[in-house]
Amino acid sequence: MEKTTLLVIVCLLQLTASAISNEDAPTCTKRIDTHCHFVPPFYAELLHENNITAGGRAIPSWSAIQHLEVMDLLNVSLSIVAISTPAAVLTRDYPVNESRQLARRLNEYAYNLSMEYPQRFSFFATLTLPDVEGSVAEAIYALDTLNAAGVMILATSSDELLGSPRFDPLYAELDKRNATVFVHPSQSPCPGQQSFNEGSTGLPPFAVDFLLDTTRAAANLIFRNVTLKYPNVKHIFAHSGGFLPFATFRIVKILKGLTNQTEEAIMSQLETFYVDTALSASKYALPSTIALLGTNHLTFGSDYPFAPADAYIPNTEHLDKFLREDVTTTAKKQINFKTAADLFSHVLSEDMGY
Ligand SMILES: *[C@@H]1O[C@H](CO)[C@@H](O)[C@H](O)[C@H]1NC(C)=O
Ligand SMILES: *[C@@H]1O[C@H](CO)[C@@H](O)[C@H](O)[C@H]1NC(C)=O
Ligand SMILES: *[C@@H]1O[C@H](CO)[C@@H](O)[C@H](O)[C@H]1NC(C)=O
Ligand SMILES: *[C@@H]1O[C@H](CO)[C@@H](O)[C@H](O)[C@H]1NC(C)=O
Ligand SMILES: *[C@@H]1O[C@H](CO)[C@@H](O)[C@H](O)[C@H]1NC(C)=O
Ligand SMILES: *[C@@H]1O[C@H](CO)[C@@H](O)[C@H](O)[C@H]1NC(C)=O
Ligand SMILES: *[C@@H]1O[C@H](CO)[C@@H](O)[C@H](O)[C@H]1NC(C)=O
Repeated sequence: MEKTTLLVIVCLLQLTASAISNEDAPTCTKRIDTHCHFVPPFYAELLHENNITAGGRAIPSWSAIQHLEVMDLLNVSLSIVAISTPAAVLTRDYPVNESRQLARRLNEYAYNLSMEYPQRFSFFATLTLPDVEGSVAEAIYALDTLNAAGVMILATSSDELLGSPRFDPLYAELDKRNATVFVHPSQSPCPGQQSFNEGSTGLPPFAVDFLLDTTRAAANLIFRNVTLKYPNVKHIFAHSGGFLPFATFRIVKILKGLTNQTEEAIMSQLETFYVDTALSASKYALPSTIALLGTNHLTFGSDYPFAPADAYIPNTEHLDKFLREDVTTTAKKQINFKTAADLFSHVLSEDMGY
């Protein structure tokens, strides 16, 4: 019998027992991981050849088997994988035809993975932004033909921030399909920067700059009216939305002045956002995040394999401690799997039991 099947049976037994004894339900942890990555061997090789890191983070080794082991360790039943930065555009002058071919190969690789392990893996499609025409074609192919869970868009694509009016044709297609965008941080434009590996300060971009990149993308979507014009597109921002929850007050005040909308109107757009718990389930971050978004706009994230075990394990422990002590059983389920199961019902089958 497969490990998952066993786990499901054990969970069902526990739930039945708790219903009978009418005690607090035991922690029957089951999760959908909406922030984790796949690194196909051909892609790792291409990055190494071009001396490219993920915002200063060395490219980790990855295989489906290794990933499944980590999923079992963290009680993740389903992983929705995405490619990490720099996605399919390896350098600022990377030829468009090359990045289109690379995105297609990555998407077909991810599709194959989802076919090989239909209960365990799904994926966010890789696009080719800032190439809009190629991104539209790839999004349509991935969503309509490969049944992708959604699309991944970097907060900054070669210096062009998410929310750019140039991306409107892509948003129109995503809106038609009620698609979910996973917003992953990348390298923000930086004076004097030679490559996507470097920041201007010596601090690697993934250390701090990534959080600015994500926060800025979220604010820009409201500033540029994308959230108003394309209300059916949902966004999950990585890492608790950077520092968006913490800085909400000033961001809302400033956006109000810039857009002539009311604070209530800005807030109601902010509240449509989802964020994940990857590397941000600390006792410092969770209260702020939940104060802004409630517990039904948070999804579980591990950031495996870019986050090492000594980051994703304690982060998950912090989350579980918080879930044991501070929230209801309903909230626990929302964060671990229910919110994601509702967003991505089109890639789940009924027998998966979400
Ligand atoms: C690779 O990138 C690093 C960091 O940007 C740089 O220090 C190093 O010189 C580069 N190596 C090659 C062979 O380009
Ligand atoms: C995984 O689930 C089992 C059984 O419910 C539980 O004992 C264990 O603590 C969980 N581990 C994590 C990391 O969630
Ligand atoms: C992209 O175009 C260049 C120049 O026309 C050509 O040399 C290269 O082989 C093309 N690459 C792909 C993947 O089609
Ligand atoms: C996906 O699987 C098909 C059929 O096995 C194979 O021909 C194709 O090369 C695979 N694609 C990738 C990108 O691995
Ligand atoms: C998108 O969502 C709207 C509102 O919930 C619904 O009416 C519509 O049928 C959905 N469209 C698709 C393509 O799922
Ligand atoms: C956003 O929409 C408002 C009202 O429709 C309009 O006045 C404003 O110019 C738009 N802003 C942008 C950046 O498109
Ligand atoms: C906001 O309103 C003021 C005064 O009505 C007007 O001058 C300004 O152009 C408006 N700004 C935008 C972005 O609509």
